[in-house]
Amino acid sequence: MADSVQFQTIPNPNRLSDDARAQLIAEPGFGKVFTDHMVTIEWTEEAGWHDARVRAREPFSIDPASAVLHYAQEIFEGMKAYRGSDGAITLFRPEENARRFNQSAHRMAMPELPEALFLEAIERLVAIDAAWIPAGEGSLYLRPFMFANDVFLGVRPAKRYVFCVIASPVGAYFKGGAKPISVWVSDNYSRAAAGGTGAAKCGGNYAGSLIAQAEAIEHGCDQVVFLDAAEHRWVEELGGMNIFFVFDDGTVKTPPLGTILPGITRASVIALARDKGISVEEARYGFDQWQADAQSGRLREVFVCGTAATIVSVGRILHSGGEFLIGGGEAGAVTQDLRDRLVAIQRGETNDQFGWRRTL
Ligand code: PLP
Ligand code: COI
Repeated sequence: MADSVQFQTIPNPNRLSDDARAQLIAEPGFGKVFTDHMVTIEWTEEAGWHDARVRAREPFSIDPASAVLHYAQEIFEGMKAYRGSDGAITLFRPEENARRFNQSAHRMAMPELPEALFLEAIERLVAIDAAWIPAGEGSLYLRPFMFANDVFLGVRPAKRYVFCVIASPVGAYFKGGAKPISVWVSDNYSRAAAGGTGAAKCGGNYAGSLIAQAEAIEHGCDQVVFLDAAEHRWVEELGGMNIFFVFDDGTVKTPPLGTILPGITRASVIALARDKGISVEEARYGFDQWQADAQSGRLREVFVCGTAATIVSVGRILHSGGEFLIGGGEAGAVTQDLRDRLVAIQRGETNDQFGWRRTL
């Protein structure tokens, strides 16, 4: 039970100095710089969740036969803490991450973590490493994850797990910041199939996407777009973001849930758009139609969204048959407006009309 798990805090005796930290967070990039602490909580079949600790970030020592190293029983989340202009520290919809974490846990036959415990772990880490939250444009990216830690080579759900949260001050995910990105539509690879793990945030999904992402990079693109596994026709999502299409009649379309990751940014974008009276359809969209609509001019804007990326326009699309631009390769007005409104809520620059901010 969440309320029976007591946290023990052992501050890192070797915390970085203020100067060293300030240098690291001045231009953090994405996922390269880490804070002084981490949270760990253990789970065993006999004891359930126990041994919750806030402690120095340090390497794990795990047995070579540990189940995660062989069968990839691992899940994770991605979320951000922001420092508002008034100094307040907030999290964006962390309850949704807690819920999705447990959906992923269920799919991967792992124990669920009580939502209150998940949130307490996040808040304790953000509080102890608050000095690492960059001011201005940056944020503190939080990476909760859980892995199977049984020393056993049989294929079955493990009986021992570690939950951990680490934190990383970050700037923009893409090198070009908010500039439109280019995407490569993969011919050869699929990310997920019906009945598979596409909707879970498990490490294996990302391992399987790397070769397609490498192909995207080889073609000079920022990200890969996956089509469905059955017909190789319907647009699903990117390696690490959901996708939206904006049409000339002002309507918006995004692929339906099922085999894609149910993005929290995706859900927020749908709510923000509908709040402005924009009609948003969650419906299948074929790559053939995408090309036809781009050519006819019916398709005005394409954007992708996720915690790491926020909202970014797609300017250029490459595929084995050629390439085409959207909006002349420039960011569109609907995309820009949604991005501005989302970022203003996340950074506490506007009224939190949906109750999405959680202040520490
Ligand atoms: N799709 C994939 C495959 C992702 O990795 C992510 C990022 O977490 C998303 C979509 C967007 O999800 P969210 O908005 O919850 O970050
Ligand atoms: C996130 O947006 O949080 C992700 O996990 C996706 C990854 C591209 C960093």
